[in-house]
Amino acid sequence: MRVSKEYLCGLPCAPVPHSALLPLIKWAGGKRWLLPYLLPLMAPYRGRRLVEPFAGSMALALAFRPQRALLCDRNPHVMNFYRWVQRGFTLSIPMENDRDLYYAHRERFNQLIREGREDSEEAALLFYYLNRTGYNGLCRFNRKGEFNVPFGKYRAIPYERDFTPYRQLFKHWEFLTGDFETLPLEEGDVLYLDPPYDVEFTAYTKETFGWEDQVRLAEWARCHRGPVILSNQATPRILALYESCGFTIYTLWAPRRISCNGDRAKALEVLALRGL
Ligand SMILES: C[S@@+](CC[C@H](N)C(=O)[O-])C[C@H]1O[C@@H](n2cnc3c(N)ncnc32)[C@H](O)[C@@H]1O
Repeated sequence: MRVSKEYLCGLPCAPVPHSALLPLIKWAGGKRWLLPYLLPLMAPYRGRRLVEPFAGSMALALAFRPQRALLCDRNPHVMNFYRWVQRGFTLSIPMENDRDLYYAHRERFNQLIREGREDSEEAALLFYYLNRTGYNGLCRFNRKGEFNVPFGKYRAIPYERDFTPYRQLFKHWEFLTGDFETLPLEEGDVLYLDPPYDVEFTAYTKETFGWEDQVRLAEWARCHRGPVILSNQATPRILALYESCGFTIYTLWAPRRISCNGDRAKALEVLALRGL
């Protein structure tokens, strides 16, 4: 399928309300920029449970603020962090934008992982600090399973020190770690699916969410009886996949660029809707 202008947007767009909470963490592929489109789509489903199987920084959940939500991600550290925000932190670690402190905290975080204590409160706080202070908010591990992101290059970092508004919001939210397909869905759930982007040419990179996973997701999503919103990179095969699964397709330009034959081409994003 050709990606052409006739797919370009046509969706309602509205400003993000002041009540939206900001993501606590930096996350590759975070969708704050999509909120003006996502929130109007979500508006009719305010009373329903929101399910985000690819939660990451939870940009949508934090802005939409549903009463009930089921949030999942395969990254155990980010979900552990949210669970501790929900319980309430008691322990405090020094948080400064300082190279020596960063590497000391990184070493301690890796020690906790080695000791099998990655679900501890201390690991959650260290994860938050490393995410805010490390290079570009990356979350990267070496072959030995050690977090190996270098110190970041920020002038100043606004560390959150009062998590109370988040704790209150998380009261009736559930946080799970694992693959999207393991989620216990209810018929009326409204689903927002934001998987890792489909990258068609991955000869030099190790795929962690390959094409077979994209297909598995589309087939899982088509079986859900409630409303589903999906975002992804608008590659021709993603458009064809969701169209064949009965989704209505919209595309819009994303505020990022992708490498394309040495070029830095504008990236086209797809919003695919079903049951709305
Ligand atoms: C594009 S990001 C989601 C970003 C999120 N919507 C936000 O606003 O920050 C994709 C997420 O999917 C997670 N992920 C990758 N494979 C997964 C799987 N099989 N099941 C669940 N989550 C997965 C990644 O850890 C990552 O956080």
